[in-house]
Amino acid sequence: MRKIIFVTGNPHKVREAGDILSHVGITVEQNDCGYPELQEDDLEAIALYGARWAADKLNCEVMVDDSGLFIEALGGFPGPYSAYVFDTLGNERILKLMDGEANRRAVFKCVIGYCRPCEEPSLFSGEVAGEISAGMRGCGGFGYDPIFEVGGATFGEMNEEKKNSLSHRYRALMKFAEWLKYR
Ligand code: IMP
Repeated sequence: MRKIIFVTGNPHKVREAGDILSHVGITVEQNDCGYPELQEDDLEAIALYGARWAADKLNCEVMVDDSGLFIEALGGFPGPYSAYVFDTLGNERILKLMDGEANRRAVFKCVIGYCRPCEEPSLFSGEVAGEISAGMRGCGGFGYDPIFEVGGATFGEMNEEKKNSLSHRYRALMKFAEWLKYR
């Protein structure tokens, strides 16, 4: 098994990435050294900076994950500001913003940044299209999971195995794992 340090403060992401990558011979170990999150307007720039910063600070190969929920009717909001908006508004108030809105389409995106010390980072992105539910449903997962619906069920209603077989994170991590095979 190859071990990769996953730099994040989010234990849910670590559990999901650990499950997903365990099927392809990779284990992840969390390091919560708190890399500075740039206030950029795209996930790629945030992941790029974080991966380079953490690889140089920890002096080992690392991965980071920057994710965001892009709601079509809100012009892509909260997108790269998803963490801040979740902490300040939360799911209930996002649903209020969507009151009476017929277009519920949304996309969840994940960008995995990987870097070795003194090298250029590599990025892998994955996304899943879904809808913003009418109300919060399900008690699994974390963050926006109770309001993001794919194929009739919210991520919060899915068991971990189901979410991890189709999520934005799964799709990004599979690209990463494929690339890593030859490195
Ligand atoms: P960040 O990638 O840590 O910046 O996360 C952005 C926001 O999206 C945070 O509020 C996370 O809790 C939330 N988030 C990230 N990934 C997921 C997911 O897979 N499901 C639900 N919420 C998520």
